Amino acid sequence: MTLRRSVIVGCGHYLPQRVLSNAELAKMVDTSDEWIVERTGIHNRHIAAEGENTSHLATKAAEMALDRAGLKPSDIDLIVLATATPDYTFPSTATQVQAALGITHGAAFDLQAVCSGFVYALTTADKFLQSGSHKRALVIGAETFSRILDWDDRGTCVLFGDGAGAVVLEAQEGKGDLTDRGILSTHLRSDGRHVEKLYVDGGPSSTKTTGLLRMEGKEVFRYAVNYLAEIIEEAFAATGLTAADVDWFVPHQANRRIIEATARKLSIDPAKVVVTVQNHGNTSAASIPLALSTAYGDGRIKQGDVVLMEAMGGGFTWGSALIRW
Ligand code: ACO
Repeated sequence: MTLRRSVIVGCGHYLPQRVLSNAELAKMVDTSDEWIVERTGIHNRHIAAEGENTSHLATKAAEMALDRAGLKPSDIDLIVLATATPDYTFPSTATQVQAALGITHGAAFDLQAVCSGFVYALTTADKFLQSGSHKRALVIGAETFSRILDWDDRGTCVLFGDGAGAVVLEAQEGKGDLTDRGILSTHLRSDGRHVEKLYVDGGPSSTKTTGLLRMEGKEVFRYAVNYLAEIIEEAFAATGLTAADVDWFVPHQANRRIIEATARKLSIDPAKVVVTVQNHGNTSAASIPLALSTAYGDGRIKQGDVVLMEAMGGGFTWGSALIRW
């Protein structure tokens, strides 16, 4: 029996030009390069220029993904864009990207699951493609977190950065077994009781302002490793694959310690873990496609490889995806 699969046929990313180093941050708040590197693994983050919005970053990442896929914007009939930092309260950033790419058909919408946004968006687009309603989707994670940071709060401002990543998903017929290319399994969870551990203290309905990011870092860390390990075990149980079958582990790039602790808990070989957080900090929904695009670009991820992704973010939301590239 054949099965419709969503295959990644292209990926791309974009980071704003301006790099903000730990040393520069140490001049702005009471911190040090040593503290940031030891606790997070982060060395640099990129900051969007004035007038450079989330949709601009997203469009550049999408163009690179289309180029690598050998496709034109008009080949796309669905855009799902994950962001917690949209250009406007409305319309969606996805429609701004659609317009920038010159696409006038199909559908485009935003999706909000903060740092888990890319896994949520990938899962959503996969359902559209599996149903047969759409053929090719751009799945984008794009953020300008620099705009919602409290630059006086050393506990949060050192952690985040701006960026975008994108993949092109194409519906293809598979055999229905694990040798198929494409998305093999996705798993999403949320638990809204944890809002106060990680949230932005504003919004159109509550304060009529944008607000700033607030976080209880230690608590987030504690939950992250356990939830992420659980949701990956779920993906392994659903497919019958194990840590030994994974060619590349591409986690949400929040913090090197969370990534390493999760990999260790699941007995994933450290040599298979893709880590890019040192170069761009936590870019929320953009971090997984950014890491995917980097590891594809440098020749690590190849066609046929099994790639495991996971993320956790505000809400809490968390999720995992197992794919064959
Ligand atoms: N520089 C120097 N000192 C700092 C800084 C800083 N930037 N930030 C906090 N400190 C101080 C604290 O004030 C505290 O000082 P005190 O002992 O005098 O009170 C001390 O360092 C220890 O603070 P903790 O918060 O206990 O430090 P911890 O070891 O937990 O590290 C961190 C903090 C890095 C935020 C960690 O908790 C973490 O990584 N949490 C996960 C957060 C995360 O990744 N969130 C992203 C969104 S969710 C996600 O993507 C999974």
